[in-house]
Amino acid sequence: MKALTLPSGWKLFAALAGLTLAMTAVVLASQPDPDGLRSAIRATARSSFALFLLAFLGSSLVTLLPGPRSRRLLQERRYLGLAFAFSHTVHGVLIYRYAQQFPELFWANRTVTSSLPGSVGYLFLLLLTVTSFKAAMRLLGGRAWQALHSTGMWLLAAVFCLSFYKRIPMGGWYPLAFALMCSAIAIKLTAKLARQQRRNTHALS
Ligand code: HEM
Repeated sequence: MKALTLPSGWKLFAALAGLTLAMTAVVLASQPDPDGLRSAIRATARSSFALFLLAFLGSSLVTLLPGPRSRRLLQERRYLGLAFAFSHTVHGVLIYRYAQQFPELFWANRTVTSSLPGSVGYLFLLLLTVTSFKAAMRLLGGRAWQALHSTGMWLLAAVFCLSFYKRIPMGGWYPLAFALMCSAIAIKLTAKLARQQRRNTHALS
């Protein structure tokens, strides 16, 4: 039997974007608004989270668990990152619709200040997305590109952390999601340390 081969590159992006749209349509159709909209906002936050984790951990897994799977993950990192941006754009569009159609519900537990971390997150998401293309990469130069992408990914990790942390009292999956994000941060820092140690050993020998 022929092994199932997963798409790669733009085909992977298109498949993930299509899945995000299909999931959103099913969730929206399963309940009347405003519940349908809120469920779709939550569902897209979760698909974004899964895609974000894969992009965030790509290089760390190659360092800590080298092998064909982690290398493949790293090769696809750009497309996974763009699929995350797509899913989060859908999250944003749904939030806009929710705020327009149900302003009293949208603002019930929210202020402009409490929306600030998420809004800064969106600003970085935009910057990371537009600089994911070759022309912008060349324009920025390697160091600035690296600094922007590293800062942006850490900031988005912090926004996910905060989003899950403030929902921990609600129970359900939130404590697990918060623990997952914290573990991903620990893995990323461990891999950074391992790379530094390897460089030091290499310099000494
Ligand atoms: C990068 C920026 C953002 C990230 C990473 C993010 C992440 C999240 C997460 C993790 C959830 C919870 C999903 C779950 O239930 O499992 C969520 C839900 C939600 N977010 Fe975002 N978000 C961002 C930006 C924003 C902004 C700017 C707004 C509005 C101003 C917003 C409005 C909402 C709303 C209304 C919900 C659903 C709340 C509920 O029904 O419980 N988000 N978001």
